[in-house]
Amino acid sequence: MAEARDPKGVTREGPTPSDVFSSRFGGAATHVARAPGRVNLIGEHIDYNDLPVLPMAIQREVRLVYRPREDGVVRVANVDPEFDPVEFEIGPSTPPGPAGNWGNYLKAPAVELARRSAISRGMEGVVSSSVPVASGLSSSTALLNALGLALAVVNEVSLAPMDFAQLMADAERYTGTRGGGMDQAISVGGRVGHAARIAFAPLRMRHIVVPGDWRFIVAHTGVRAEKSRHAREAYNQRRSECERALASVAERGLQSHLVPTAPQGYPDLLRMMGSQAAIAAATEVLPAPLLSRFRHVVSEAARVDQAADCLSRTDFSGFGALMDDSHCSLRTDYEVSSEELDDLVDIARDGGAAGARLTGAGFGGCIVALASSDTVDAVLAAIAEQYYQPRGMSDRLGDCLFVAAPSAGASVDAL
Ligand code: GLA
Repeated sequence: MAEARDPKGVTREGPTPSDVFSSRFGGAATHVARAPGRVNLIGEHIDYNDLPVLPMAIQREVRLVYRPREDGVVRVANVDPEFDPVEFEIGPSTPPGPAGNWGNYLKAPAVELARRSAISRGMEGVVSSSVPVASGLSSSTALLNALGLALAVVNEVSLAPMDFAQLMADAERYTGTRGGGMDQAISVGGRVGHAARIAFAPLRMRHIVVPGDWRFIVAHTGVRAEKSRHAREAYNQRRSECERALASVAERGLQSHLVPTAPQGYPDLLRMMGSQAAIAAATEVLPAPLLSRFRHVVSEAARVDQAADCLSRTDFSGFGALMDDSHCSLRTDYEVSSEELDDLVDIARDGGAAGARLTGAGFGGCIVALASSDTVDAVLAAIAEQYYQPRGMSDRLGDCLFVAAPSAGASVDAL
């Protein structure tokens, strides 16, 4: 047993990945695959509508130390005893385990790579993670990407980064969540010191420098956002509400000759009609709650473009105001916030943040708040005193509250 300290300061008592590796598999791992979590700065619940988003990769990451095998078996253990070891044979039709089982995030990339690239070589490895689980920071995608990358390297599958990210996005559907492609893309394509504007269909990424004196604070409510379990239905429901809303507004657009042909998706609809005309048409045809869902999607897409401009122009207060608007829209129109998320957002703002919002799918998890190098300590102190202290969570500050560093995407190295 040893104290495992990740480079960013999260300290955990317990066996190291190499201890677990040698006791489970014998000998030593030969490689490490790492994939970061992410914080989405703005553009929430719109990636699955093929509308752009603006996340950055963070310093919290999943690490998988592994050794290739000659056969097609994958055996993976986790240093966290909450997760039982997983073993399966690579193949295009490996069945998933029960919904929410972490093994599904290991099987997903293996199945997709077997389908697309006929991979056949497995590996044994040990996972450790500094991304809090079910926190809206994309721990599950980081896991999926780390295993996918390891298997791609073991099987000598070489893909351009965005092609690999798209493959991982397709793979994640195996787990039962109909997510978009944001998390996979930023975890693969993140760049130190940068956020990225990501557009979809086809997947593409534009890196934008994060000004040196901007600080993005991440604060966890302490409530798990179990996307893979309880919140999965609500998430999938939002997604189908968006599809139904799009179909009705598109039909209305055609009937009233606002669009020449049937739009293929949200980007097409907005290009043809413009945001204002689209919302006006929606107001005429959509019942509640579809109208408010639609309004969130369209307004959030506009905010992403404005926010990308603010970032490029280093317009600090402009960016913060857009984060506030985004939260408001997610709370009232999209209904994915919670009392705890709203509390944290209010505390961060009152403590001096330029803006704050829930990040990730919502239903618990984290907020992200924008501060400057001058105000960051005051905002951190306000959150610690007003949110964590009264809830008796002060001993968890290291895990729950941190300043996100814009970080590099996934990689594999020999050990
Ligand atoms: C989850 C999904 C993403 C995205 C966000 C909400 O993180 O995996 O694709 O939809 O929720 O913005």
